Amino acid sequence: MNQDNKKYMENNISYDLNEHCLISPLDSESPLFEPKIRLGVLASGNGSNFEYIIKSIQNNQLNAEISILIVNNPHCLAIKKAIKYNIPYVIINHRDCQSRLEHDMLVLKKLEDLSVELIVMAGWMRIAGEELINRYINRLINIHPSLLPSFKGIDAIQQAIDERVTITGCTVHYVQKEVDSGSIIIQAAVPIQENDNKDTLTKRIQQMEHIILPLAIAKVAMNIRTGFRGNK
Ligand code: GAR
Repeated sequence: MNQDNKKYMENNISYDLNEHCLISPLDSESPLFEPKIRLGVLASGNGSNFEYIIKSIQNNQLNAEISILIVNNPHCLAIKKAIKYNIPYVIINHRDCQSRLEHDMLVLKKLEDLSVELIVMAGWMRIAGEELINRYINRLINIHPSLLPSFKGIDAIQQAIDERVTITGCTVHYVQKEVDSGSIIIQAAVPIQENDNKDTLTKRIQQMEHIILPLAIAKVAMNIRTGFRGNK
């Protein structure tokens, strides 16, 4: 990394002095692996993380193709991004399902039919069921807007503000049965400033999410390609 950018690495930790943010652990380059990994992305909201995965692929930082975007919310903006970048997408609306299991099984079938190798929950506001978790052990990851294990569950950014912590951040982790509690892959720490509100803080946390999620995908993909089992 370039000192002029006010970014530097030390002891495998990356410091961003402009944003006063810190990412750990971070290799300066995204790991290289072959052949390209087939991703399934699950989203419920704006899809900004989904878009940054696409950009990382386009910039050759991530050797991947997105086989499918699955959304559970027919009105979510992630769909517009799929259309913009010509990525196949499907709406599997949980409201059309009788049970959580039925929804999970529809999602799982779609992913398996397309031979998806790695599932990325990028703003997926659903709890992953056991079927999905067990079929995709070490191949199902989630991004969460806090420094886990702090502030699990919904509205993590507001939780951090309410608790008056001075540092929060975001985490990419493997998914396991207990919500927001699988092994951590990458985290970014983001200071909370005195004049922050939920919107300003969300913006800065998401800037870091857009960096760490593609990196985490590359790390996990490399583990898949080398047969390394990283999850506890
Ligand atoms: C992200 O900030 C992500 O961390 C969060 O939803 C947002 C989605 O943004 N996920 C969770 O809160 C999951 N518990 P996006 O749709 O713009 O990528």
